Amino acid sequence: MSTKDPPWPGEPLFPANTSAVAILSDVHGNIRALDAILDDIAEQGIDAVACNGDLITSSAHASQVVARLMAQGIPCTRGNHERYLRELDDPTHPKWGQANWAPTCHDYRVLDARQHAWLRRLPDTLLLCDGEYPLLMSHAAPGNDCVRVCAQNKEPFWRDLFAPLPRGCTLVGSHLHWFWRYSWHGYQFVRTPSAGLPLDGDTRAGYVILRRGPEGWQAEQRRIPYDVEAELAAFRASDYYREGGVVAHLFWEELRTARSWVLPFFAHARKCALEQAADPNVTAFDREQLQAAYRTFDRTRYPEYNPDAPGASG
Ligand SMILES: [Fe+2]
Repeated sequence: MSTKDPPWPGEPLFPANTSAVAILSDVHGNIRALDAILDDIAEQGIDAVACNGDLITSSAHASQVVARLMAQGIPCTRGNHERYLRELDDPTHPKWGQANWAPTCHDYRVLDARQHAWLRRLPDTLLLCDGEYPLLMSHAAPGNDCVRVCAQNKEPFWRDLFAPLPRGCTLVGSHLHWFWRYSWHGYQFVRTPSAGLPLDGDTRAGYVILRRGPEGWQAEQRRIPYDVEAELAAFRASDYYREGGVVAHLFWEELRTARSWVLPFFAHARKCALEQAADPNVTAFDREQLQAAYRTFDRTRYPEYNPDAPGASG
């Protein structure tokens, strides 16, 4: 550990006698999934609840989701999607004119000033519990909201990840929308499933319960049935769907199937750009480019997504 202060508040958020914590993440604007999870948490004998980033984008109810989390005083970290939102604070930012960012631009417009102010204050990492087995939460990993923390990571990755963290801690990460646990020399990493946009083939809403035991925190995944069809119908009828274009439709397909559509689509769109002798690493698309790429995107053979499988990417 360097002499720098750790990138999280020094005081734990929850009291020392906290023994059961529910952590959800990646709600992605899906209000029905969030409400189903909050109802389930209320019946599980939980002491404290926290939400690990990516509250907005992908489904149609970003403003309602943020309002619910604010009203219930649920502590949240900042996900990569909340970071993308902040880039739009600059009205001249090029993403305002790029079709691939249309869903984020929509969410920026529908969130009110109080919600934006609250989202701006979200921290990168939170220390939830202290003591012999500290519990920390960060969207992907402390200081990096996009890093892939998965089964394919090698020894040096785990050493670098845990070196700045308190000894014996459990780090809860999210971001890949797939539940997973890993132990490393007395440390533990727990990856939450997605609340509102699962990508593991199971459309039910997901979250984890961590219970403090004699040997540390024990994580249990919970999957909660809810009215996915109603969320899909509301999504399809929304301004978000209309304004979000091709990318909003791909999110809708992800919600419908609990499979990854966005990543394989953009791999295909980049291939199309390369065929037109454009930049193969292009990250900005206009509406016509996305529509043309969608017409040639093979929607029957999109690859199965498993972030822990050899060779997985995205
Ligand atoms: Fe996410």
